[in-house]
Order: sequence, then structure tokens, then C-alpha cells
Amino acid sequence: MNVIVTGAAGFIGSHVAKDLIQKGHTVLALDDLSGGNESNIPKGAIFLKASINDDLLNAFKNFKPDFVYHLAAYAAEGLSHHIPSFNYQNNVLGTINVLNSAYHAGAKHFVFTSSIAAYGHPHNNEIFDESSYCIPCDPYGTAKLACEHHIRAFVDYFGAMKYTIFRPHNVFGPNQNISDPYRNVVGIFMAKAMQGLPMPIFGDGSQTRSFSFINVVAESIAEAPFNEDAVNQTFNIGGDESMTVKELAEQISEAFSIPLNIEWLSYRKEVAHAHCTHDKAKRVFSAIYNKSVSIKEGLKMMADSVKKEPIPQITECPSPIEIFELLPPSWAARLAIN
Ligand SMILES: NC(=O)c1ccc[n+]([C@@H]2O[C@H](COP(=O)([O-])OP(=O)(O)OC[C@H]3O[C@@H](n4cnc5c(N)ncnc54)[C@H](O)[C@@H]3O)[C@@H](O)[C@H]2O)c1
Repeated sequence: MNVIVTGAAGFIGSHVAKDLIQKGHTVLALDDLSGGNESNIPKGAIFLKASINDDLLNAFKNFKPDFVYHLAAYAAEGLSHHIPSFNYQNNVLGTINVLNSAYHAGAKHFVFTSSIAAYGHPHNNEIFDESSYCIPCDPYGTAKLACEHHIRAFVDYFGAMKYTIFRPHNVFGPNQNISDPYRNVVGIFMAKAMQGLPMPIFGDGSQTRSFSFINVVAESIAEAPFNEDAVNQTFNIGGDESMTVKELAEQISEAFSIPLNIEWLSYRKEVAHAHCTHDKAKRVFSAIYNKSVSIKEGLKMMADSVKKEPIPQITECPSPIEIFELLPPSWAARLAIN
């Protein structure tokens, strides 16, 4: 099959592209390298350096994709409050452009990575399942939910294409950008650990997340168009194990064999506890879910991988800040310099 993977120089996209190549498919890897790294693109993929907002029609028509996996996005959720126009331009209009191009090029299946951010704050400590009410609480989650609705309506109206939507959460592993100051708490903590610097925590570190090692997430995404039970379905995807951000810092210190060193930052507005069920994904991708690893094992694998490479240069925000009010002071200090 011919498949296009957008965001293939990024973290999850590179693993999806690699899995598809290993299974014998021809992969066109599209990325503008705004947040990813060319070295992540797996050997054997054809690299197209382009933005998802470019005119992609000819490239898509020439390649004749059977399936399109759309993962490219600027995924700094907390920062999205401060760059709303950029967020919607990149993550909504870019998605619509990719979807239109996929349709015109005759693709039969469109796979989209939404996010747990589509749900917003849990009500009464709710664990989200796919039927939970979605009330996103930031522009990033709002953009993801808008794309989900658009894709479903598009497929329903035009009919010619199928879709699968995934809502991942807190994914980590090799190839993740550890030098983005605005997202990827696991990567941020590991970069600090490697530099002997304190790990920054907003508030008291009691926020909990279900950190999810990459393998199950990437393999499930790659398999979706080949699995009848995933047709026109939406899945939460990731691990069940919950951990506080402070416990994460402890685990990462242990993985790097260093004493715990935390920089306590003032509280920022964010979802305190974000968790979801994975019963549906476990049913449909059961063989893949059997390969789940614990957070501890996953952190060890990621630590072993990042220790081999020098720490990359900081990835700056690709947009000017639109609203400075309420920026966490540590971010404001960075952004004022740049
Ligand atoms: N990592 C997570 O925990 C997580 C959780 C929920 C959802 N997601 C979603 O999964 C997808 C992949 O996330 P990731 O963690 O691999 O992020 P990532 O930043 O590592 O990868 C995204 C890639 O998209 C590229 N990109 C961004 N804007 C682009 C544009 N305009 N044109 C072309 N390329 C562009 C970047 O260069 C980058 O390589 C994203 O859609 C993200 O919103 C990720």
C-alpha cells in the first residue's frame, strides 16, 4: 500500500511510519520540521518537506495514497491559550487541507490523532470513555475536537473515505523531542536530568497523568486501516497506569541514577487529573495491547535512548505570542528573549 504519514519527523509519526515500512508499505513522510527532526524519519521513507498548510494536491495525487495518517500538529497544549490563531491555523485549517487533499487523491482511509484534551476537565473525577461529554478547556483541545467533528461529517457526507480517530495521552519514548520547553514533561525532566539541573514542576506536583509508552500507541494507529473493527471508530489510546508528576520526577531521577532535584514553580491553570478507559482499544487491538510495558520499564528504555545522543537545541515556539497575560513566568522569560 502507499501511505502518507504527516508529522513523520516527530515522535509518534516516526514510529507509525517505521511500523508501516517494516510491514512492507511505501511511506511518504511529510513534515515541515517545525517541531520534529529529520533524523527521526525512518530509513526507506520518502521525505517531503512541506507544511500541511501548503498546496499538497499535486504531491498527494502523484503519490496516490491508499491511506493517509495525519499526525502533524503543534501540540503544546498549555501554550495554545497564548497562540490561539496560530493553533487554529495550524491544527484545524492544516488538518482540513490534508483531508481535502487525501480525498481528492483517492485515499480510502484517513487516520487522525486527536487528543485526550478533547474531553477537557473531568467532572466528579470521571475517567473518560469514548462516549464522555467533550468540553475542551483550551484552544488545542478545541481544535482537536473541531477536527474530529469535521472528519466525521466529511466522511458521512462524501462517503468515499473511511476514518479512524485516536485520542492519545501523555505518550513518551525514544524519538520524543526532549528540548521543547512547552510540552512533553517526560522529555523536559530527562533533559534536565542529563544537565544536572532541577526538574520544573508547576504547583505541588500532585497532578496525575497516565503516561503511556509509545509502542502500543504507534502500532495501534498504524494498524487502524487494516482492522475492520476500527473503521469509522474513535479510540482512547494509551496506558492505564496513573502517576503524579512528582512521582514521575522521582522515577526519572532513579532511571538516571541521580538525586531528586525539583524546581517548584507557581501553580498554572491545567487539568489536574486526566485519565481515560481503554477497553474499546484493548478489544480491537488486543494483540498489540498484549505488548504493553509499565511506565518504569518505558522510562528506562527512553532514558537509555536519550543518553546516547547530545541534548538537541531548544525548539522555540513557531509562532509569535498573541496573548502574554497569564503566561507562566518561566515561559514569559523565555518568550520575551526570543
Ligand atoms: N505525544 C502525546 O502525548 C500526544 C497526546 C495526544 C495527542 N497527540 C497528537 O499526536 C500527534 C503527534 O504528536 P507528537 O507527540 O508526535 O508531536 P511531535 O511534535 O513530536 O510531532 C509533530 C510533528 O508535526 C510536525 N508539524 C507541526 N506543524 C506542521 C505543519 N504545519 N506542517 C508540517 N508538519 C508540521 C512537526 O515538525 C513534528 O515533526 C499530534 O497531532 C499531537 O497533537 C500527541
